Amino acid sequence: GIVASAEVEQSYIMVKPDGVQRGLVGEIISRFEKKGFLLKGLKLFQCSKDLAQEHYKDLKDKPFFPTLIDYITSGPVVCMAWEGDGVVASARKLIGATNPLQAEPGTIRGDLAVQTGRNVVHGSDSPDNGKREIVLWFKEGELCQWESVQTAWLI
Ligand code: TYD
Repeated sequence: GIVASAEVEQSYIMVKPDGVQRGLVGEIISRFEKKGFLLKGLKLFQCSKDLAQEHYKDLKDKPFFPTLIDYITSGPVVCMAWEGDGVVASARKLIGATNPLQAEPGTIRGDLAVQTGRNVVHGSDSPDNGKREIVLWFKEGELCQWESVQTAWLI
């Protein structure tokens, strides 16, 4: 796997299969672009059960785990690595509560989803998990080291 940058905070954001199938990829990417974070990796990807299970390993004893793995592997996902100070917590705010019916209007889940089991997007819950998940989902050479000229005004 790749070695994630040690200093810069990164979050692994993923459009889940329902988001891809409902045509919400552009809308979801757009929220993070407009906020002003830096996109370091992006791909459409069909993941294996093994990868989905590793990604959600902390939830392996939950009753919904098998359903969750079936859902995440049911079609392509869009994998993203976003970077910037505070990106993990900010992305969680942009995404909204796990249950979309409790997510505030203006958040991605609050605006675009109704079911916990089909909540359109994933975002890392800590900077450590951001690094772990980016290493898990991206291979060497799939991340770009670049700086947007806008970065001077934003990040
Ligand atoms: P979790 O990490 O608790 O939420 P979040 O995605 O907001 O960080 O759970 C991971 C995913 O598991 C969640 O996005 C949807 C699914 N899930 C269920 O299907 N049922 C549940 O009761 C919970 C808590 C989660």
